[in-house]
Amino acid sequence: MHEEKILVLDFGSQYTQLIARRIREQKVYSEIFPYNAPIDKIKAFSPKGIILSGGPSSVYDKKAPLPDNKIFSLGIPILGICYGMQLMAHCLGGKVAKAQKREYGRAELIIDASADLLRLTPLASRKTVVWMSHGDRIEKLPSGFKSIAHTGNSPVAAMADRKKKFFALQFHPEVAHTDKGTEILKNFIFKICGCRSLWTMKSFIEASKGEIKEKVGKNGVVCAISGGVDSAVAAALINKAIGKQLTCIFVDNGVLRTGEAGKVESTLKKHCNMNIICIDASKRFLGKLKGVTDPERKRKIIGNEFIRVFEELAMKIKGVKFLAQGTLYPDVIESTSFKGPSATIKSHHNVGGLLKDMKLKLVEPLRELFKDEVRVLGKELGMSDDIIGRHPFPGPGLAIRIIGEVTKERCDILRKADAIVLEEIKKAGLYAELWQAFAVLLPVKTVGVMGDERTYENVIAIRAVKSVDGMTADWARLPYDLMGTVSNRIINEVRGVNRVVYDISSKPPSTIEWE
Ligand code: XMP
Repeated sequence: MHEEKILVLDFGSQYTQLIARRIREQKVYSEIFPYNAPIDKIKAFSPKGIILSGGPSSVYDKKAPLPDNKIFSLGIPILGICYGMQLMAHCLGGKVAKAQKREYGRAELIIDASADLLRLTPLASRKTVVWMSHGDRIEKLPSGFKSIAHTGNSPVAAMADRKKKFFALQFHPEVAHTDKGTEILKNFIFKICGCRSLWTMKSFIEASKGEIKEKVGKNGVVCAISGGVDSAVAAALINKAIGKQLTCIFVDNGVLRTGEAGKVESTLKKHCNMNIICIDASKRFLGKLKGVTDPERKRKIIGNEFIRVFEELAMKIKGVKFLAQGTLYPDVIESTSFKGPSATIKSHHNVGGLLKDMKLKLVEPLRELFKDEVRVLGKELGMSDDIIGRHPFPGPGLAIRIIGEVTKERCDILRKADAIVLEEIKKAGLYAELWQAFAVLLPVKTVGVMGDERTYENVIAIRAVKSVDGMTADWARLPYDLMGTVSNRIINEVRGVNRVVYDISSKPPSTIEWE
């Protein structure tokens, strides 16, 4: 499907994904394979160039990850980065040893041979800032190689065997701190490997449509729509390929936000012309949640019940043989990474169990994409910002934002408060800056005074966080005036609430959700 590709072999660097993304930003398709990928698999992938990533190991460690040496006989250009450079030296007959001075962070690179890889603008300048992170260094160059750049601490900060088109950098061109990093990577992929920018979202959509049609044939596909970005974009893409052969199922589990079911239905049905079944199963879910206060039990109940409802509906659709999922590339890499396989289907996708019971085959049209690429794809497919730019919303929904028992009445209180939080944050133009913003209903009552009367009612906590990936997060410094408006509106408009508090905890040690 992809004509010109760059392969990244992963030796465990925290930046491996970033390398692939930087290449894709240049509209050249790139994939990551584990470092020990068999040579046949690499040949079959047919890359125009290979990049050896960095990694935490030392090449002289007994268990150092080494690639199949045959990659050096394929006759294609190779770029080693950091550990990848030491590996190249080690595998090709050079010598690597512990550096007397380790180099971490910013360093000034002095270019000694400004041809091909290090031909940077302006040409007259021989100095540029790079980002280093290494404790080993090249003691002896492998035969055929020349040093092409140095730093104060590294006599060989970059090396090349121009004849074979082997290049290596001691620093990280993929990180933003390396001033000319993008230019260096562009030199490698365009000038040295001869790639062209062929990988665009338009070309991706066209190729994916063909693949989906071929895989699915005349069979039916079902897709669970969660309201999140990934499942919606996956469904939109499949819909473009096979139209009404796809049936989307959206389950109202009773713990959704205000108007969510209607919004999802209208967006997908009217704007994308999809076949979508929306089912109100709220009574069923709330019945199962009765009396339950333990957060993990709430999660399990909602996950299991979802599978049951979905299955009942999907069984009634004729000819269904495939289940569509919005699995993304990071999930795929994680499951094949040499750090150890982990489950491909995350438990919170809630649909893992369906494959076993219904004997469905998977269609995962986003499994080559990173999250930001999914957003670009969604835009290209004509989806509105309202869907594409949404905050994440957990599968167990409001159930893990209602501390204590989940009842319809408590859901309604939280829904109203949550809608006000989101409305005011959007009005203030802050929605896109935040990872998530929401209300939490606490299981305590406090005293207040409204009019001349004493009240004894619920407390709402507001949580708004900034985060890049949800792994760590900091509480958002919302403007006081905005907090004031939100608090006033909630207390005035939501019956049963007389106090609003703001959560000022970061993750870690707290989590984003309260349960
Ligand atoms: P925590 O609360 O662990 O959340 O800091 C990190 C991110 O994951 C989301 N989250 C969930 N998503 N099912 C989901 O689909 C869950 O059970 C679940 N728990 C947390 C949370 O909203 C945040 O974005």
